[in-house]
Amino acid sequence: MSVKLAVILGTKREGNWSKHVYNYLIEYLKNRKDIEVRGYDPSVMALPVDEDKKVPEFSDLVQWADGFVLVSPEYNHSFSGTLKLLLDSEFENFFNKSVGYVSVSKGPFAGVRMVESLTNVTRELGLIDHGYDMPIANVRETFSESGELLDEKVATQAEGFIDHLIWLTETLNRGRSELKD
Ligand SMILES: Cc1cc2nc3c(=O)[nH]c(=O)nc-3n(C[C@H](O)[C@H](O)[C@H](O)COP(=O)(O)O)c2cc1C
Repeated sequence: MSVKLAVILGTKREGNWSKHVYNYLIEYLKNRKDIEVRGYDPSVMALPVDEDKKVPEFSDLVQWADGFVLVSPEYNHSFSGTLKLLLDSEFENFFNKSVGYVSVSKGPFAGVRMVESLTNVTRELGLIDHGYDMPIANVRETFSESGELLDEKVATQAEGFIDHLIWLTETLNRGRSELKD
């Protein structure tokens, strides 16, 4: 049974480096068997004014997906306002689906503080994680400015992270289809 994963980029900052990690993961997932992958890059999105305003393409994606990969930089020890607006624009279609976190930073701490604040939000949305994250430190040395991967260790990180996410996503798919709420 194939698993449908949505990879979401958590920033629309012009020239952001998180996009290199996002692009890398989408390509990586396309090469894995039994996964259907779609991405969402908010650079095309006009920011909604109201917190609960729907973003149609994002709505479709959330409905379609079994699980989510949130690729987000750390901004002032948290995640971006753009990602919060996106997450706030949906609710029911997140419930009892999986989520995995890819934190991105140009520093040595890999954005792990961002994950701590993001889990407060995803928990409220009913998303479920497995605690196996994919932290990317020193992103400006891990990828070239044009997005080429410079550190092969990222491939090993991606493999472990996605293996855990698929297991959880398949388990939750079964739970949602076989068990009553
Ligand atoms: C508004 C802002 C706040 C930031 N705050 C942090 C931070 O708290 N911790 C950190 O490690 N890096 C921080 N950074 C630097 C990012 O790690 C750096 O920009 C990196 O390339 C990832 O973000 P990007 O995808 O926007 O490029 C910040 C960057 C911006 C623009």
